[in-house]
Formats: sequence, C-alpha cells, structure tokens
Amino acid sequence: MLVTGAAGFIGSNLCDALVASGARVIGVDDLSVGKRENLKEAESAGLEFVQGSILEPESWSAHLRSATRVIHMAVACLRRCFQNPMTVHHINATGTLAVLEACRQHAPNLQRFVYCSSSEVYGTALQAPMDENHPLKPTTVYGASKLAGEIYTLASDLPVTVARPFNTYGPREHHQGASGEVIPRFAVRISNGLAPLIFGDGSQTRDFTHVSDTARALMLISANDQALGRSINLARGQEVSIARIAELLIEKLGRPDLKPEYRGARPQDVDRHYAATGLARELLGFEARLDIEAGLDQYVDWFQRTHPEASRLLEEVQEQNW
Ligand SMILES: NC(=O)c1ccc[n+]([C@@H]2O[C@H](COP(=O)([O-])OP(=O)(O)OC[C@H]3O[C@@H](n4cnc5c(N)ncnc54)[C@H](O)[C@@H]3O)[C@@H](O)[C@H]2O)c1
Repeated sequence: MLVTGAAGFIGSNLCDALVASGARVIGVDDLSVGKRENLKEAESAGLEFVQGSILEPESWSAHLRSATRVIHMAVACLRRCFQNPMTVHHINATGTLAVLEACRQHAPNLQRFVYCSSSEVYGTALQAPMDENHPLKPTTVYGASKLAGEIYTLASDLPVTVARPFNTYGPREHHQGASGEVIPRFAVRISNGLAPLIFGDGSQTRDFTHVSDTARALMLISANDQALGRSINLARGQEVSIARIAELLIEKLGRPDLKPEYRGARPQDVDRHYAATGLARELLGFEARLDIEAGLDQYVDWFQRTHPEASRLLEEVQEQNW
C-alpha cells in the first residue's frame, strides 16, 4: 500500500489504521504542510516514509513496483486557493495526473488506485441529502481542482475508485494558518477564553465526519471490488450547523460564559452539505460509528491532552474572512 499525503491530517490517521491492520505501508509526503511527527507511531509500527513531491514522482516511484494499492491523499487545501489558485490547481489537478501516470508506468501489480476527492466538488446542496448523482458545481478553484482530479482518475485505464469524503475532523486536524479548520480554530479560541468567530450567520451546515470513520471507509474502499469505477460519498450522514458546533465546543470545553462572535460570510463558502450515505452502506457495508457529540468528546479529550498550554497555539490561528 502506498499513501500520498501520508503525513497530513487524514493521511496520518489512515496510515495508523493501515499499519494496525497489518498492512505494509509506504507513506509519501513533501512535508509542505504535513509533519513527520504525525507518523511517529506508524513508523515505529513499520511504515516506511519517503519524502518527495507528487509533482516529481522520480523521487518515490521506485516504491510503486511492489504496490498493489495506492491511496492518493496529497492536496493543497481549500483556503490556499483564494491567494494561490495556480498552486492549488497545480498540486491538486496536475499532481493527481502525475500520480496516475507514475502508477501507469511503475506499478505493474496495481489492483486499486483510490483518489481521495472531496464533497467540495458538489458545491452547495441543491437538494439534500446529496447523493453521488448530485450536480457537480464547485464554487471554488479548490473544488474545481478536486473535480479535475476525479475526471483524470476516471479517464485512466487503471482500476480506480473515487472517494468523496465530507468535512472530516479529529486528532491532528490543523488549526494553523490557511490550513486551519473550523473545529480546531474554535477549540483554540475557547480554550484561551475567547469567543469562537463565526463567518456568516452560523446556519451554514456541514456533514462532519470523524477521521476514524473516514480512514476506515478509505480502507474498505481500497479493498472492495464492488467499488471499482465508482464515486462514493464518505460521511456520517448528519447535517450540523456551524453555530451548533460552536455551542457544543463551548459546552465541552467548559466555558458557558462565552458566546460566539459573528463576522461577514466568507466568499464562496457553501451553505449546506448533507450527504446521502446509502451507496457506501450498500457497496462497502460502511456506516459511521461516531455521531458529532461522541466525536467531539473524543476530539476535546485529544486536544486537551496534546495541547495543555493552548495559549501557544493562538498566534498560529489565522482568522480571515476569505
Ligand atoms: N479535511 C477534510 O475535511 C477533507 C474533506 C474532504 C476531502 N478531503 C481530502 O482528503 C485529503 C487529505 O486532506 P487533509 O485534510 O488530510 O489535508 P492535509 O493538508 O492535512 O494533508 C495533505 C498532505 O499533502 C501533502 N502535500 C501537499 N502538497 C504535496 C506535494 N506536492 N507532494 C506531496 N505531498 C504534498 C501535505 O504536506 C500534507 O501532509 C485531500 O485529498 C483532501 O482533498 C479532506
């Protein structure tokens, strides 16, 4: 098994789950965002790490010779596309084509290529819950670049599956800079006695899915023949508003004195994401195990153990209305 973007948030959780299942795993990452320390446990359990860019497959393609499965996770994140659209296009679209080409040339034993796409390819929900036939109308360069990656994947003659995770949260999710996501950003501010900042009126929803569920679903997809050639939503199937996330974190972090502060909506933010999960259930037998309450309990426990001095994180959080 070879995983690109292995040192990132979902990639490292996936690698932990893969090595725990006994798989032999090669992790590739250029460490532009991901951290080697995210792979500490996986490496001590046998993961082999190769530092290299998906845009320069020569540095890691020799490891494809023995690979039977590839899960392509490497990405430039959504918020980067407002400042650096060309970079995001290059890494997400061109980079995916580069990984596919490397597999075509150097992976003679490949049984499955899993492209980790994103619910952002749908844009905002035109009908809900959103099944895999929902129109594909991305609202950002990021969503468009992820969709380009899907199309390159499905156009290849490799045995492929497209996975479409919805918003994923959990241990190692980023709070920093452009990579910072809403749950860690709220957790850092609340832990510092500051109001969580909500962009927009807080009624916008996401289908928040715990990373342990996303990782398990990716493993199921990579091993399931029914998933060949398919595009499959990976989600809890529960719509939760951003205002509710703030409320839950205020409660779970023990700061009932705090109230969210509201700022102008972020341009191009989707209003609503709510996944239909029937196809993943039917093909993979996948059902998410953690609902938002249980998942946030687990996250808060991890956050407090890992960051006993949350004040150090505050300066790394960038609250920008883009
Ligand atoms: N986090 C979510 O909520 C979410 C939701 C839907 C889909 N996804 C998808 O899941 C995948 C992983 O996302 P994540 O949240 O873990 O992101 P992440 O930023 O934590 O991880 C991405 C990793 O890719 C690496 N990377 C970036 N450019 C690279 C390059 N040129 N070569 C090699 N490695 C490179 C980074 O260093 C990082 O470790 C992505 O494909 C993303 O589109 C994420």
